[in-house]
Amino acid sequence: MRKRFALPLSLAWVLVATTAFAPPAQPGARVIEITAKRFEFDPNLITLKRGEPVILRVRSADVTHGFYSKQLKIDELIEPGKIVEVKITPETPGKFTLICNHFCGSGHANMKMAITVE
Ligand code: CUA
Repeated sequence: MRKRFALPLSLAWVLVATTAFAPPAQPGARVIEITAKRFEFDPNLITLKRGEPVILRVRSADVTHGFYSKQLKIDELIEPGKIVEVKITPETPGKFTLICNHFCGSGHANMKMAITVE
């Protein structure tokens, strides 16, 4: 009987520990879902407000893509089956371009999205 509960209990502890050390949620942060797929981002245009914290939740629908903007200091690899959360609070108004910087096929060079900060 004792052995039977040993594994589930240790698993439960791991879950509690993981939750305890997870980064704190950002109450009020707007979440924007973005899908990367050959050869576009959907949506390919988003508008953010200066000073507003947002979470970009990015996933791939097919192969590995990049998610890169030098100006916004974003540089992530988007692998299939994983979700990448990018937390940003844009401070500078303007129009920015985010590109795929990981070769993903024939249309790779055209894979980009526009981010407007107003
Ligand atoms: Cu997507 Cu390169």
